Amino acid sequence: MIVYASRTGNVRYIVSKLQAESIELTETLKVDKPYLLLTYTDRLGEVPAKVAQFLQANGQLCKGVVVSGNSNFGHSFFGGAGDKIAKAYQIPLVRKLELRGFQADYDAIQQFYETRVKNENLLTIK
Ligand SMILES: Cc1cc2nc3c(=O)[nH]c(=O)nc-3n(C[C@H](O)[C@H](O)[C@H](O)COP(=O)(O)O)c2cc1C
Repeated sequence: MIVYASRTGNVRYIVSKLQAESIELTETLKVDKPYLLLTYTDRLGEVPAKVAQFLQANGQLCKGVVVSGNSNFGHSFFGGAGDKIAKAYQIPLVRKLELRGFQADYDAIQQFYETRVKNENLLTIK
């Protein structure tokens, strides 16, 4: 599953390029299976408040993070939300995209999803 946050539509567009079950997060959403998180970056490299709140309850099942940002904010703030989430939850930063990114980004994300998120339930049963 993909869980995402999008304020102005870029992340929503990225999600539309992926073959995966997806849901837009809210502060109170509770998930019950492994997921890949897609988010935008807010105010100087920060994790959007509702994403931070969602992660407090659901961080355990997050298998990776994809972030969209705008490099005009400068290297130290570009996509900073992804760096912070990856560090805090010890998960891979799968991709950092400039705005909507490119096809190569969607391919890489899809591949990570297929191998590390989608089958996670099956792999952990054994
Ligand atoms: C108020 C505001 C602050 C932002 N701050 C950052 C930032 O610090 N770093 C960054 O990389 N992008 C920043 N961005 C850019 C967004 O993260 C970027 O446009 C992203 O693609 C938005 O995704 P969305 O359209 O799904 O909301 C900011 C955008 C806005 C409107």
